[in-house]
Amino acid sequence: MATRTPSPAPRIRPTDRISYADLYGRWEKGHWSATAIDFSQDRVDWQERFTPYEREAALFNYALFFWGEDAVADTLSPYIDAAPLEEQKYFLTTQQVDEARHAVFFTRFMHEALDVGRGDVRSGLDEIRPLLSWGFNQVFDRLDRMADELRADRSVPQLCRAVTLYHLIVEATMAQPGQHMITSYLAEREVLPGFRAGMERVAADELRHIAFGVKLLADLTPGNDEARAAVAELLREVSPWLGSVFQPPGWDEGYLTTFGWSYDRIGVESVSSLETKLRSAGLAMETLPGPEVQPLDLSPLERTRLAQTLARGNITGPGLHPPATDPDTMAAFFDVIRRAVSPDHGLDAPTTIEWDFIDAPAWHLRIDGPTREVVAGHAPHADLRLRVAYRDWVDVVGRRTDARRLLLTRRMRPSGSLRLLARLPRIFPG
Ligand SMILES: [Fe+2]
Ligand SMILES: [Fe+2]
Repeated sequence: MATRTPSPAPRIRPTDRISYADLYGRWEKGHWSATAIDFSQDRVDWQERFTPYEREAALFNYALFFWGEDAVADTLSPYIDAAPLEEQKYFLTTQQVDEARHAVFFTRFMHEALDVGRGDVRSGLDEIRPLLSWGFNQVFDRLDRMADELRADRSVPQLCRAVTLYHLIVEATMAQPGQHMITSYLAEREVLPGFRAGMERVAADELRHIAFGVKLLADLTPGNDEARAAVAELLREVSPWLGSVFQPPGWDEGYLTTFGWSYDRIGVESVSSLETKLRSAGLAMETLPGPEVQPLDLSPLERTRLAQTLARGNITGPGLHPPATDPDTMAAFFDVIRRAVSPDHGLDAPTTIEWDFIDAPAWHLRIDGPTREVVAGHAPHADLRLRVAYRDWVDVVGRRTDARRLLLTRRMRPSGSLRLLARLPRIFPG
């Protein structure tokens, strides 16, 4: 009698061990009341246990959360409409209630303990609006646009793109490390008992939301190349903003060190959190299609420091100040250019592109099959030479302008292979 080799048992993924119904059940068991918290001791602590500088630094952080909670409550409804399963819709409905509760909690805390606003949501938000960082505003403006895009297109790839922004970037990469920072220093100092109790409940809710987002992506992306590409595109789009989210006015790191934290520490937590969640969703960064979404050969600390160099040198950021031309900043900038070259660049011979900057030292890029190298100085032989202002090219990479516009307005003068010039969008598809 023929024997049959048993087929290997299907691999159980961590996300298979929990169902959408389980996540809903956890929500029912985790109820808490944002209106029952007493902030009277918080009001005393805020005046007596924080120095004026610490109040300024803490307010900056709390402002990001306050704005964020209101924004995520406002933008979740199209996700409910786009989710394919009833159980997913029910969970997302519970999440929307959570986000409203978080916003109520922050409105009360900001008003009753910190004297921000007049007790209603609008006046509180108006007061903290000027404190929000550029990186933070970029992400939340994108979240607003994403809600509109998802209303117009409820497809699976679009839903995966939106969940990556909402659950993986806003909740796992930005909010989770920020909550950890706040709850840890409040516990160490034994201050703001009402706020701390609420923040711990918020953090528990966020864990559930993130678990849902990871599960949804794990369920919807396998075998769906378009969805995987959408996740990768979104990550490439938002990554340049993330190094500036916790950037206080004037890059005063004292805003973090006064509470025992640093850019490095919060950056490493952010990068590691995103990496872990993507891996659990079956979307490990190194498996995603297209140009790498983050510099994968660098450790989380090195990635954090690269992002800081770019932000401090005005490479990333609002583009209000001229970009720095010191060798470290320019090397970091050209590292970004090198990494942005598509693996499908389609160049069948070694190719050199030179940036002959009007206002900064020249640099060039050599592409030879999978190898790409960036070098300071003029190239001995360039296939394409771009005569352009450094500041303008920084704006192209930062998406504040595009190369076609520079060409049309004669702000960029190419020489050499015009065929290569026409292929630039394929070489740098991001
Ligand atoms: Fe929240
Ligand atoms: Fe949330």
